Amino acid sequence: MGPQTPLLVLLLLSLPKSLQGQQQHLVEYMERRLAALEERLAQCQDQSSRHAAELRDFKNKMLPLLEAAEKERETLRSEADTIAGRVDRLEREVDYLETQNPAPPCIEVDEKATGGPGPKTKGRRNEKYDILTECSHTISQVRSMKILKRFGSSAGMWTKDPLGHSEKIFVLDGTQNDTAYVFPRLRDFTLSTAARKASRVRLPFPWVGTGQLVYGGFLYYARRPPGGPGGGEDRGDMLQLIKFHLANRTVVDSSVFPAEGLIPPYGLSKDTYIDLAADEEGLWAVYATQEDDQHLCLAKLDPQTLDTEQQWDTPCPRENAEAAFVICGALYVVYNTRPASRARVQCSFDASGALTPEQAAHPYFPRRYGAHASLRYNPRERQLYAWDDGYQIVYKLEMRKKEEEV
Ligand SMILES: *[C@@H]1O[C@H](CO)[C@@H](O)[C@H](O)[C@H]1NC(C)=O
Ligand SMILES: *[C@@H]1O[C@H](CO)[C@@H](O)[C@H](O)[C@H]1NC(C)=O
Repeated sequence: MGPQTPLLVLLLLSLPKSLQGQQQHLVEYMERRLAALEERLAQCQDQSSRHAAELRDFKNKMLPLLEAAEKERETLRSEADTIAGRVDRLEREVDYLETQNPAPPCIEVDEKATGGPGPKTKGRRNEKYDILTECSHTISQVRSMKILKRFGSSAGMWTKDPLGHSEKIFVLDGTQNDTAYVFPRLRDFTLSTAARKASRVRLPFPWVGTGQLVYGGFLYYARRPPGGPGGGEDRGDMLQLIKFHLANRTVVDSSVFPAEGLIPPYGLSKDTYIDLAADEEGLWAVYATQEDDQHLCLAKLDPQTLDTEQQWDTPCPRENAEAAFVICGALYVVYNTRPASRARVQCSFDASGALTPEQAAHPYFPRRYGAHASLRYNPRERQLYAWDDGYQIVYKLEMRKKEEEV
Protein backbone atom coordinates (compact mmCIF):
# COMPACT_ATOMS: atom_id res chain seq x y z
CA MET A 1 0.00 0.00 0.00
CA GLY A 2 0.97 3.63 -0.37
CA PRO A 3 2.89 5.61 2.25
CA GLN A 4 -0.26 7.61 3.01
CA THR A 5 -1.94 4.66 4.78
CA PRO A 6 -0.44 5.11 8.31
CA LEU A 7 -1.46 8.76 8.17
CA LEU A 8 -5.01 7.80 7.24
CA VAL A 9 -5.17 5.26 10.07
CA LEU A 10 -3.99 7.90 12.56
CA LEU A 11 -6.57 10.35 11.24
CA LEU A 12 -9.23 7.67 11.58
CA LEU A 13 -8.34 6.83 15.21
CA SER A 14 -8.33 10.47 16.32
CA LEU A 15 -11.91 11.06 15.08
CA PRO A 16 -15.06 10.75 17.28
CA LYS A 17 -17.10 7.52 16.89
CA SER A 18 -20.18 9.25 15.37
CA LEU A 19 -18.24 10.11 12.23
CA GLN A 20 -16.76 6.70 11.74
CA GLY A 21 -19.33 5.56 9.13
CA GLN A 22 -18.57 8.46 6.86
CA GLN A 23 -14.87 8.10 7.47
CA GLN A 24 -15.06 4.50 6.48
CA HIS A 25 -16.39 5.63 3.06
CA LEU A 26 -13.73 8.27 2.75
CA VAL A 27 -10.99 5.78 3.49
CA GLU A 28 -12.35 3.34 0.97
CA TYR A 29 -12.65 6.09 -1.61
CA MET A 30 -9.08 7.22 -0.98
CA GLU A 31 -7.82 3.69 -1.18
CA ARG A 32 -9.58 3.17 -4.50
CA ARG A 33 -8.00 6.37 -5.84
CA LEU A 34 -4.61 5.32 -4.61
CA ALA A 35 -4.97 1.91 -6.17
CA ALA A 36 -5.96 3.52 -9.48
CA LEU A 37 -2.97 5.86 -9.26
CA GLU A 38 -0.66 3.00 -8.54
CA GLU A 39 -2.02 1.08 -11.47
CA ARG A 40 -1.43 4.01 -13.78
CA LEU A 41 2.06 4.43 -12.40
CA ALA A 42 2.75 0.79 -13.08
CA GLN A 43 1.39 1.19 -16.60
CA CYS A 44 3.68 4.16 -17.16
CA GLN A 45 6.67 2.25 -15.91
CA ASP A 46 5.70 -0.59 -18.14
CA GLN A 47 5.43 1.68 -21.15
CA SER A 48 8.69 3.46 -20.57
CA SER A 49 10.54 0.22 -20.13
CA ARG A 50 8.92 -0.98 -23.35
CA HIS A 51 10.13 2.19 -25.09
CA ALA A 52 13.58 1.70 -23.69
CA ALA A 53 13.61 -1.84 -24.96
CA GLU A 54 12.45 -0.70 -28.39
CA LEU A 55 15.17 1.94 -28.47
CA ARG A 56 17.73 -0.68 -27.52
CA ASP A 57 16.49 -2.94 -30.28
CA PHE A 58 16.67 -0.09 -32.78
CA LYS A 59 20.19 0.76 -31.72
CA ASN A 60 21.22 -2.84 -32.00
CA LYS A 61 19.80 -3.02 -35.50
CA MET A 62 21.40 0.28 -36.60
CA LEU A 63 24.89 -0.31 -35.26
CA PRO A 64 25.86 -3.05 -37.69
CA LEU A 65 24.41 -0.98 -40.57
CA LEU A 66 26.46 2.05 -39.53
CA GLU A 67 29.54 -0.07 -39.23
CA ALA A 68 28.95 -1.52 -42.69
CA ALA A 69 28.50 1.97 -44.16
CA GLU A 70 31.70 3.16 -42.50
CA LYS A 71 33.56 0.16 -43.87
CA GLU A 72 32.22 0.79 -47.35
CA ARG A 73 33.32 4.39 -47.16
CA GLU A 74 36.79 3.26 -46.18
CA THR A 75 36.93 0.82 -49.06
CA LEU A 76 35.81 3.47 -51.51
CA ARG A 77 38.36 5.93 -50.21
CA SER A 78 41.21 3.48 -50.46
CA GLU A 79 40.07 2.47 -53.93
CA ALA A 80 40.04 6.12 -55.01
CA ASP A 81 43.55 6.49 -53.57
CA THR A 82 44.73 3.45 -55.46
CA ILE A 83 43.24 4.74 -58.70
CA ALA A 84 44.78 8.20 -58.23
CA GLY A 85 48.11 6.53 -57.52
CA ARG A 86 47.81 4.43 -60.65
CA VAL A 87 46.95 7.47 -62.79
CA ASP A 88 49.98 9.29 -61.37
CA ARG A 89 52.20 6.30 -62.08
CA LEU A 90 50.83 6.00 -65.61
CA GLU A 91 51.46 9.68 -66.23
CA ARG A 92 55.00 9.37 -64.97
CA GLU A 93 55.52 6.37 -67.21
CA VAL A 94 54.16 8.23 -70.21
CA ASP A 95 56.42 11.18 -69.36
CA TYR A 96 59.36 8.83 -69.09
CA LEU A 97 58.57 7.07 -72.37
CA GLU A 98 58.19 10.37 -74.13
CA THR A 99 61.50 11.66 -72.79
CA GLN A 100 63.08 8.45 -74.03
CA ASN A 101 61.61 8.99 -77.50
CA PRO A 102 61.46 12.73 -77.72
CA ALA A 103 61.21 13.13 -81.49
CA PRO A 104 61.23 16.88 -80.99
CA PRO A 105 59.82 18.59 -84.01
CA CYS A 106 62.89 20.85 -84.06
CA ILE A 107 65.43 18.36 -85.20
CA GLU A 108 64.24 17.63 -88.71
CA VAL A 109 64.31 21.24 -89.80
CA ASP A 110 67.20 22.33 -87.65
CA GLU A 111 69.57 22.63 -90.63
CA LYS A 112 67.49 25.40 -92.02
CA ALA A 113 67.45 27.42 -88.83
CA THR A 114 71.10 27.30 -87.90
CA GLY A 115 72.61 26.59 -91.27
CA GLY A 116 73.69 30.08 -92.26
CA PRO A 117 71.89 32.58 -94.43
CA GLY A 118 69.38 31.02 -96.79
CA PRO A 119 67.84 32.64 -99.84
CA LYS A 120 65.20 34.35 -97.68
CA THR A 121 67.77 36.13 -95.55
CA LYS A 122 67.82 39.87 -95.70
CA GLY A 123 69.65 42.28 -93.46
CA ARG A 124 70.20 40.91 -89.99
CA ARG A 125 68.09 37.90 -90.47
CA ASN A 126 69.07 34.52 -89.02
CA GLU A 127 72.47 35.77 -87.92
CA LYS A 128 73.80 34.40 -84.67
CA TYR A 129 72.76 36.47 -81.70
CA ASP A 130 75.53 37.88 -79.50
CA ILE A 131 74.36 37.54 -75.96
CA LEU A 132 74.58 40.76 -73.93
CA THR A 133 74.66 39.44 -70.39
CA GLU A 134 76.33 36.61 -68.49
CA CYS A 135 73.14 34.69 -68.91
CA SER A 136 73.77 31.04 -69.71
CA HIS A 137 71.01 28.97 -68.17
CA THR A 138 68.26 26.93 -69.69
CA ILE A 139 65.10 25.44 -68.26
CA SER A 140 65.48 21.92 -66.92
CA GLN A 141 62.02 21.42 -65.49
CA VAL A 142 58.88 22.99 -64.08
CA ARG A 143 59.45 22.63 -60.36
CA SER A 144 56.11 23.68 -58.95
CA MET A 145 52.73 25.09 -59.78
CA LYS A 146 50.70 27.45 -57.65
CA ILE A 147 47.14 28.33 -58.64
CA LEU A 148 46.58 31.80 -57.27
CA LYS A 149 43.21 32.86 -58.42
CA ARG A 150 40.38 32.66 -60.88
CA PHE A 151 39.87 36.05 -62.43
CA GLY A 152 38.34 37.17 -65.67
CA SER A 153 37.70 35.29 -68.87
CA SER A 154 39.36 32.24 -70.40
CA ALA A 155 42.08 34.23 -72.18
CA GLY A 156 44.22 36.99 -70.76
CA MET A 157 47.65 37.99 -69.51
CA TRP A 158 48.98 38.80 -66.07
CA THR A 159 52.47 39.74 -65.01
CA LYS A 160 54.81 41.66 -62.77
CA ASP A 161 57.23 44.12 -64.30
CA PRO A 162 60.39 42.03 -64.73
CA LEU A 163 62.51 45.19 -64.60
CA GLY A 164 62.57 47.34 -61.51
CA HIS A 165 61.44 46.25 -58.10
CA SER A 166 57.79 47.12 -58.05
CA GLU A 167 55.51 44.45 -56.59
CA LYS A 168 52.63 45.60 -58.76
CA ILE A 169 50.57 43.02 -60.58
CA PHE A 170 49.22 43.90 -64.02
CA VAL A 171 46.18 42.05 -65.32
CA LEU A 172 44.87 42.33 -68.88
CA ASP A 173 41.67 40.30 -69.13
CA GLY A 174 40.35 39.20 -72.51
CA THR A 175 41.74 39.29 -76.03
CA GLN A 176 40.33 42.65 -77.01
CA ASN A 177 39.93 45.34 -74.40
CA ASP A 178 41.33 48.69 -73.41
CA THR A 179 41.30 48.57 -69.61
CA ALA A 180 44.14 47.04 -67.58
CA TYR A 181 43.91 46.29 -63.84
CA VAL A 182 46.80 47.16 -61.56
CA PHE A 183 47.05 45.63 -58.08
CA PRO A 184 49.48 47.08 -55.50
CA ARG A 185 50.92 43.63 -54.77
CA LEU A 186 50.27 39.96 -55.26
CA ARG A 187 48.45 39.61 -51.94
CA ASP A 188 45.86 42.17 -52.99
CA PHE A 189 45.25 40.28 -56.19
CA THR A 190 44.64 36.98 -54.40
CA LEU A 191 42.03 38.47 -52.02
CA SER A 192 38.41 37.72 -52.81
CA THR A 193 37.73 41.44 -52.79
CA ALA A 194 40.56 41.92 -55.31
CA ALA A 195 38.59 43.98 -57.82
CA ARG A 196 38.06 46.73 -55.22
CA LYS A 197 41.82 47.06 -54.60
CA ALA A 198 42.63 47.40 -58.28
CA SER A 199 43.22 50.60 -60.09
CA ARG A 200 42.17 50.69 -63.71
CA VAL A 201 44.33 52.00 -66.51
CA ARG A 202 42.48 52.96 -69.66
CA LEU A 203 44.52 52.61 -72.84
CA PRO A 204 44.02 54.86 -75.85
CA PHE A 205 43.55 51.83 -78.16
CA PRO A 206 42.37 48.31 -77.38
CA TRP A 207 44.89 45.48 -77.49
CA VAL A 208 44.69 42.42 -79.75
CA GLY A 209 45.28 38.93 -78.36
CA THR A 210 47.22 38.07 -75.22
CA GLY A 211 50.73 39.02 -76.32
CA GLN A 212 51.14 42.17 -74.20
CA LEU A 213 54.11 42.80 -71.95
CA VAL A 214 54.95 45.07 -69.02
CA TYR A 215 58.63 46.03 -69.07
CA GLY A 216 60.43 48.85 -67.28
CA GLY A 217 57.25 50.75 -66.43
CA PHE A 218 55.86 50.52 -69.95
CA LEU A 219 53.09 48.40 -71.38
CA TYR A 220 54.01 47.08 -74.84
CA TYR A 221 51.15 45.79 -76.92
CA ALA A 222 49.90 45.19 -80.42
CA ARG A 223 46.92 46.99 -81.88
CA ARG A 224 45.19 46.86 -85.21
CA PRO A 225 45.74 50.15 -87.01
CA PRO A 226 42.46 51.71 -88.07
CA GLY A 227 41.42 51.76 -91.67
CA GLY A 228 44.81 51.04 -93.21
CA PRO A 229 45.79 47.90 -95.09
CA GLY A 230 45.07 44.82 -93.06
CA GLY A 231 43.00 46.84 -90.66
CA GLY A 232 39.94 44.75 -91.42
CA GLU A 233 38.13 42.81 -88.74
CA ASP A 234 39.33 39.34 -89.62
CA ARG A 235 42.76 40.08 -91.11
CA GLY A 236 45.57 40.75 -88.71
CA ASP A 237 48.24 40.85 -91.34
CA MET A 238 49.62 44.19 -90.20
CA LEU A 239 49.89 45.40 -86.65
CA GLN A 240 51.14 48.40 -84.80
CA LEU A 241 53.21 48.11 -81.63
CA ILE A 242 52.38 50.58 -78.87
CA LYS A 243 54.65 51.61 -76.03
CA PHE A 244 52.54 53.04 -73.24
CA HIS A 245 53.92 54.66 -70.10
CA LEU A 246 51.85 53.20 -67.28
CA ALA A 247 52.48 55.87 -64.65
CA ASN A 248 52.00 58.85 -66.94
CA ARG A 249 49.33 57.07 -68.97
CA THR A 250 50.72 58.28 -72.25
CA VAL A 251 51.73 56.63 -75.50
CA VAL A 252 55.44 57.36 -75.84
CA ASP A 253 56.12 55.46 -79.06
CA SER A 254 54.51 53.32 -81.73
CA SER A 255 55.71 51.51 -84.81
CA VAL A 256 54.33 49.25 -87.48
CA PHE A 257 55.69 45.77 -86.89
CA PRO A 258 58.02 45.13 -89.84
CA ALA A 259 56.58 41.83 -91.03
CA GLU A 260 53.99 41.47 -93.74
CA GLY A 261 51.23 38.90 -93.85
CA LEU A 262 51.16 38.23 -90.12
CA ILE A 263 49.30 35.11 -89.03
CA PRO A 264 48.68 33.85 -85.47
CA PRO A 265 51.93 32.13 -84.41
CA TYR A 266 50.28 29.62 -82.08
CA GLY A 267 48.00 27.11 -83.71
CA LEU A 268 45.95 26.80 -80.50
CA SER A 269 45.60 30.56 -79.74
CA LYS A 270 44.09 32.23 -82.76
CA ASP A 271 43.70 35.70 -81.25
CA THR A 272 47.36 36.52 -80.74
CA TYR A 273 49.41 37.82 -83.67
CA ILE A 274 52.48 39.11 -81.86
CA ASP A 275 53.51 37.57 -78.56
CA LEU A 276 55.95 39.76 -76.67
CA ALA A 277 58.46 38.28 -74.24
CA ALA A 278 61.05 39.60 -71.82
CA ASP A 279 64.14 37.79 -70.62
CA GLU A 280 67.54 38.64 -69.12
CA GLU A 281 68.55 40.00 -72.52
CA GLY A 282 65.68 42.32 -73.23
CA LEU A 283 62.60 42.34 -75.39
CA TRP A 284 61.52 39.73 -77.94
CA ALA A 285 58.58 39.11 -80.24
CA VAL A 286 57.21 35.76 -81.42
CA TYR A 287 55.19 35.88 -84.63
CA ALA A 288 54.56 34.07 -87.90
CA THR A 289 53.97 35.16 -91.46
CA GLN A 290 52.39 33.74 -94.59
CA GLU A 291 55.91 33.42 -96.04
CA ASP A 292 56.41 30.30 -93.90
CA ASP A 293 53.06 29.44 -92.44
CA GLN A 294 54.42 26.29 -90.74
CA HIS A 295 56.98 27.76 -88.35
CA LEU A 296 57.46 30.51 -85.81
CA CYS A 297 59.67 33.55 -86.21
CA LEU A 298 61.53 35.33 -83.42
CA ALA A 299 62.59 38.98 -83.34
CA LYS A 300 64.73 40.94 -80.92
CA LEU A 301 63.27 44.38 -80.28
CA ASP A 302 64.86 47.55 -79.00
CA PRO A 303 62.73 48.48 -75.97
CA GLN A 304 63.63 52.15 -76.43
CA THR A 305 62.58 52.62 -80.02
CA LEU A 306 60.55 49.46 -80.80
CA ASP A 307 62.94 48.84 -83.73
CA THR A 308 63.49 45.25 -84.74
CA GLU A 309 67.18 44.53 -84.22
CA GLN A 310 67.34 40.97 -85.52
CA GLN A 311 64.98 38.33 -86.85
CA TRP A 312 65.16 34.56 -87.02
CA ASP A 313 63.17 31.81 -88.68
CA THR A 314 62.87 29.15 -86.02
CA PRO A 315 62.34 25.43 -86.60
CA CYS A 316 59.44 25.42 -84.13
CA PRO A 317 56.13 24.44 -85.73
CA ARG A 318 53.00 26.53 -85.34
CA GLU A 319 50.79 23.48 -85.23
CA ASN A 320 49.56 22.70 -81.69
CA ALA A 321 51.66 25.50 -80.20
CA GLU A 322 49.78 27.31 -77.41
CA ALA A 323 52.30 29.75 -75.92
CA ALA A 324 56.02 30.49 -75.61
CA PHE A 325 58.61 32.28 -73.51
CA VAL A 326 62.25 33.33 -73.84
CA ILE A 327 65.05 32.65 -71.35
CA CYS A 328 68.64 33.81 -71.94
CA GLY A 329 68.04 34.38 -75.61
CA ALA A 330 66.42 30.98 -76.21
CA LEU A 331 62.81 30.56 -77.25
CA TYR A 332 60.80 27.76 -75.63
CA VAL A 333 57.55 26.86 -77.32
CA VAL A 334 54.81 25.10 -75.36
CA TYR A 335 52.59 22.59 -77.17
CA ASN A 336 49.29 21.05 -76.25
CA THR A 337 46.40 19.25 -77.88
CA ARG A 338 42.82 20.18 -78.57
CA PRO A 339 40.99 19.46 -76.30
CA ALA A 340 43.71 20.45 -73.88
CA SER A 341 45.67 17.81 -72.03
CA ARG A 342 49.18 18.30 -70.63
CA ALA A 343 51.24 21.17 -71.94
CA ARG A 344 54.91 20.61 -72.68
CA VAL A 345 57.90 22.51 -74.00
CA GLN A 346 58.56 20.58 -77.16
CA CYS A 347 60.65 22.91 -79.21
CA SER A 348 63.37 25.36 -78.33
CA PHE A 349 65.44 27.69 -80.43
CA ASP A 350 68.50 29.43 -79.08
CA ALA A 351 69.27 32.51 -81.13
CA SER A 352 72.81 32.54 -79.71
CA GLY A 353 73.35 28.93 -80.76
CA ALA A 354 74.66 27.88 -77.35
CA LEU A 355 71.88 25.42 -76.72
CA THR A 356 71.41 22.77 -79.38
CA PRO A 357 67.99 21.17 -79.76
CA GLU A 358 69.47 17.85 -78.63
CA GLN A 359 70.64 19.37 -75.35
CA ALA A 360 67.38 21.13 -74.62
CA ALA A 361 65.05 19.65 -72.00
CA HIS A 362 61.40 19.16 -72.89
CA PRO A 363 59.65 19.54 -69.56
CA TYR A 364 55.98 18.94 -68.97
CA PHE A 365 53.75 21.33 -67.12
CA PRO A 366 51.68 19.87 -64.26
CA ARG A 367 48.11 18.84 -65.02
CA ARG A 368 45.84 21.84 -65.43
CA TYR A 369 42.38 22.99 -66.37
CA GLY A 370 42.64 24.05 -69.97
CA ALA A 371 45.08 25.77 -72.29
CA HIS A 372 47.67 28.47 -71.59
CA ALA A 373 46.57 31.74 -73.12
CA SER A 374 49.84 33.38 -72.06
CA LEU A 375 53.09 32.67 -70.24
CA ARG A 376 55.20 35.55 -68.94
CA TYR A 377 58.72 34.84 -67.73
CA ASN A 378 60.18 36.82 -64.86
CA PRO A 379 64.00 36.57 -64.99
CA ARG A 380 64.45 37.88 -61.45
CA GLU A 381 62.10 35.32 -59.91
CA ARG A 382 62.74 32.59 -62.47
CA GLN A 383 59.08 31.85 -62.70
CA LEU A 384 56.29 32.02 -65.23
CA TYR A 385 53.04 33.91 -64.80
CA ALA A 386 50.47 31.82 -66.64
CA TRP A 387 46.85 32.44 -67.62
CA ASP A 388 45.11 29.13 -67.92
CA ASP A 389 41.44 29.15 -68.82
CA GLY A 390 40.75 32.02 -66.42
CA TYR A 391 43.04 30.70 -63.67
CA GLN A 392 46.17 32.63 -62.78
CA ILE A 393 49.05 30.29 -62.09
CA VAL A 394 52.69 30.71 -61.11
CA TYR A 395 55.16 28.07 -62.28
CA LYS A 396 58.54 27.97 -60.60
CA LEU A 397 61.27 26.86 -62.99
CA GLU A 398 64.35 24.83 -62.34
CA MET A 399 67.35 25.89 -64.40
CA ARG A 400 70.64 24.40 -65.42
CA LYS A 401 73.62 25.70 -67.37
CA LYS A 402 73.51 25.47 -71.13
CA GLU A 403 76.16 23.01 -72.20
CA GLU A 404 79.21 24.45 -73.90
CA GLU A 405 79.03 24.53 -77.65
CA VAL A 406 81.22 21.87 -79.25
C1 LIG B 1 36.43 45.40 -71.45
O1 LIG B 1 35.99 44.47 -70.48
C2 LIG B 1 34.95 44.94 -69.67
C3 LIG B 1 34.71 43.96 -68.58
O2 LIG B 1 34.69 42.65 -69.06
C4 LIG B 1 33.73 45.20 -70.55
O3 LIG B 1 32.66 45.66 -69.76
C5 LIG B 1 34.10 46.23 -71.60
O4 LIG B 1 33.04 46.42 -72.49
C6 LIG B 1 35.32 45.77 -72.39
N1 LIG B 1 35.74 46.87 -73.24
C7 LIG B 1 36.04 46.72 -74.53
C8 LIG B 1 36.54 47.93 -75.26
O5 LIG B 1 35.92 45.64 -75.10
C1 LIG C 1 56.19 61.24 -67.10
O1 LIG C 1 55.78 62.53 -66.68
C2 LIG C 1 56.79 63.27 -66.06
C3 LIG C 1 56.17 64.57 -65.56
O2 LIG C 1 55.32 65.14 -66.49
C4 LIG C 1 57.90 63.54 -67.07
O3 LIG C 1 58.93 64.30 -66.50
C5 LIG C 1 58.44 62.23 -67.56
O4 LIG C 1 59.41 62.45 -68.58
C6 LIG C 1 57.32 61.37 -68.10
N1 LIG C 1 57.87 60.08 -68.44
C7 LIG C 1 57.63 59.48 -69.60
C8 LIG C 1 58.31 58.20 -69.81
O5 LIG C 1 56.90 59.95 -70.43
